[in-house]
Amino acid sequence: MSEQKILNIGIDLGTSRSVIACDNGIRTFMSSYVGYPKDAVSQKMLGKGIIFGDDALKNRLALNLYRPFDRGVLLHSDSPEKNIEEYNKAKSVARELLRQLLSQVTKEESDKVLLRGVIGAPSLATQNNKKDLLDIADGILDDVLIASEPFTVAYGLNLFSNALIIDIGAGTTDLCRMHGTIPTQDDQITTFKAGDHIDRIFLELIKKKYADANLTLNMVKRFKEENAILSSQSETVFIELPVNGKPTQCDVTDEIKAACRSIVPEIVEGIRKLVATFDPEFQDGLKQNVILAGGGSQIVGLQREIEKYMKKTLGYGKVNKVEEPLYAGASGALMLCKDMPDEYWDQLKKQ
Ligand SMILES: Nc1ncnc2c1ncn2[C@@H]1O[C@H](COP(=O)(O)OP(=O)(O)OP(=O)(O)O)[C@@H](O)[C@H]1O
Ligand SMILES: [Mg+2]
Repeated sequence: MSEQKILNIGIDLGTSRSVIACDNGIRTFMSSYVGYPKDAVSQKMLGKGIIFGDDALKNRLALNLYRPFDRGVLLHSDSPEKNIEEYNKAKSVARELLRQLLSQVTKEESDKVLLRGVIGAPSLATQNNKKDLLDIADGILDDVLIASEPFTVAYGLNLFSNALIIDIGAGTTDLCRMHGTIPTQDDQITTFKAGDHIDRIFLELIKKKYADANLTLNMVKRFKEENAILSSQSETVFIELPVNGKPTQCDVTDEIKAACRSIVPEIVEGIRKLVATFDPEFQDGLKQNVILAGGGSQIVGLQREIEKYMKKTLGYGKVNKVEEPLYAGASGALMLCKDMPDEYWDQLKKQ
C-alpha cells in the first residue's frame, strides 16, 4: 500500500461559472472567463499575461476574452474538424481555467499529493464531450472520473432514489431521475433552454420595446441575476439604460417574466416524459420530489410555476430548491470522489 496522500476534488466546469470543492475544506468558484492581453499596452496595464473570471470580464476591452464552454460542453466539441484551431484554443483555455481553480484550493498542499477529481458533465454529454474533459484534466489531475452533473447533485444530497433533479445552468438544463442505481441515458434529458437562453430573449424583448436603448448581453445577464422573477403578483421592474447616452429608467416587468418563462415549457415536458416512462408504481415518488439546482433555480416563482404545470399535466407535483445552488454540483462530485474505492481508480487507470 502506498502512503501517498490523496486530495479528493469535485469540479464543475460550467458554461458560466466553474466551481471546485476539495476535501481539505477549501472550495471556491469563478466565472468561466479567461482573457489574454491584446497588446503590449494592455499587458503593461494589467501586469499579467492571463486574467481569469470577473477580472477578465471587467477588463475585456484590453483582452482577447474566451469562454471555453458553450451549451455545457467545450466549444466546437461536437465537430472539432470544422473549427480545429478554435477547438484547440478552447481546450487550452479550459486547461488554464482548471489550473487556476486548482491553484486556489491547493496552495497549502505539498507537490507530492495525489490529485483525484470527479468532473461533472451535462447529462447527455457524448463520448467526445467526455473525452474533451479527460484531455483538459490530463497532466493536471492524477486520477479523473467524469460524472453526469444532475447525478452529482443528487449524490451530494443523498438522494439516491425517488427524486427528479433539474439542474438549470447557463448553457443547459439537465434533468435526471434517480432510482437507486447509476442513472442511464433513459433517465436523463438535456435541454438547451437555460440561463443564456433567458438572457438572449430578455435582450431581444428590451430592444424591441426600447429601440434607442444601448445595452449588452452582459448587462442584461447581471440585471437578470438580481431581478429574475416569474410570479404574476410582483412589483414593477425597472432597468436603468443609456438611451442616446442619457441614463433612463425603463420598465421591463413583462419582458423579464416572459424571458424567464421561456425555459419552462421544455422543463415541464422533460418532467412529464421522465415520469410517464417510469415504472407506474414509482411515478408518485418522482412527482413528489422534484429538486431544482443550478444558478437558474434562483428565479423567484419558478418552483410554483413548475408545480402549476405539473398539476395540469400530471395531476400534481412538489418542487423544492437545493440550499446551495452554486456548490451543489461540485460538492456532490467531491462526495462521489471520496466514496469511490481505490480499486475503482486503479481500474480506471488500466483502461
Ligand atoms: N439569482 C439568479 N436568478 C436567475 N438566474 C441566475 C441567478 N444567479 C445566476 N443565474 C444564472 O444561472 C446561470 C449559471 O448557473 P450555473 O452556475 O449553475 O451554470 P453553469 O454550471 O455555469 O452552466 P452549465 O451547467 O450550463 O454549464 C447563469 O445563466 C446565470 O445568469
Ligand atoms: Mg452547471
